[in-house]
Amino acid sequence: MSPAFPGWVYPQRVLAHRGGGTLAPENTMAGLLEGMRRGFRAIEYDIMLARDGVAVVMHDPYLGRTVAGAGNVFDYDGLELAAMDAGSWFGRAFDGEPVPLFVEYAGFCKAHGVWMNMEIKPAPGYDIETGGTVARIAAAMFADEIAAGRWAEVPLLSSFSELALESAREVAPEVPRALLMSELPPDWERRVRAVEAVAVHVNHRHLTRELAEAVKAAGFALFCYTVNEPARARALLGWGVDAFCTDRIDLIGPG
Ligand code: G3P
Ligand code: MG
Repeated sequence: MSPAFPGWVYPQRVLAHRGGGTLAPENTMAGLLEGMRRGFRAIEYDIMLARDGVAVVMHDPYLGRTVAGAGNVFDYDGLELAAMDAGSWFGRAFDGEPVPLFVEYAGFCKAHGVWMNMEIKPAPGYDIETGGTVARIAAAMFADEIAAGRWAEVPLLSSFSELALESAREVAPEVPRALLMSELPPDWERRVRAVEAVAVHVNHRHLTRELAEAVKAAGFALFCYTVNEPARARALLGWGVDAFCTDRIDLIGPG
């Protein structure tokens, strides 16, 4: 049996949101490399399933904003998406930047010592499949680290979808989970416990010192998205927030 997850063991307090924040096209290798160039060794990114069940690094369930084209992500197979242009919307220098395949992107991160908060981002109706797929791949990729109790290297799975997290727990209970909530509802603790999450991930705009203290007092780690002002970042860390992600990797350095 794997050693139990001991709690929030990750040394990094600042994660590059969607790989490279707003300095490069989100959820692309170019973004990841930009974050790494600036010293980031911890990132958050989004994962969705293609039609054939292949997991890709993608935020929106439809094309058009960051990926040139039309229709839904679920209308295409993984390799079709991987041939699409996820960069030109951001700038000509990124023309042809592909949609990454999740296994390749995660493998690159692992090989380069980049810790990952993998956000499970199901297309509507595909919560169970997406949560299960991401957890299965993460568990297989980090089986040795989990067996050795090297938890600081093991990714943290997060999702707004409780169904997806339940599915992840069914498939790979050993990979730690976090429940994402924009604003903490009155029953937040029951919901976090229901998916056996180790951490609560919230929009910092809705967080107060009192709520932060309540989360910590209940024994959970606390993570905020997406913090783009250095003064706010300092305040949140002062409230006991364990880590946060930022789009402004030019203003807030890796911590
Ligand atoms: O995981 C934190 C944050 O990324 C959640 O919101 O929409 O940016 O994926 P979103
Ligand atoms: Mg995200």
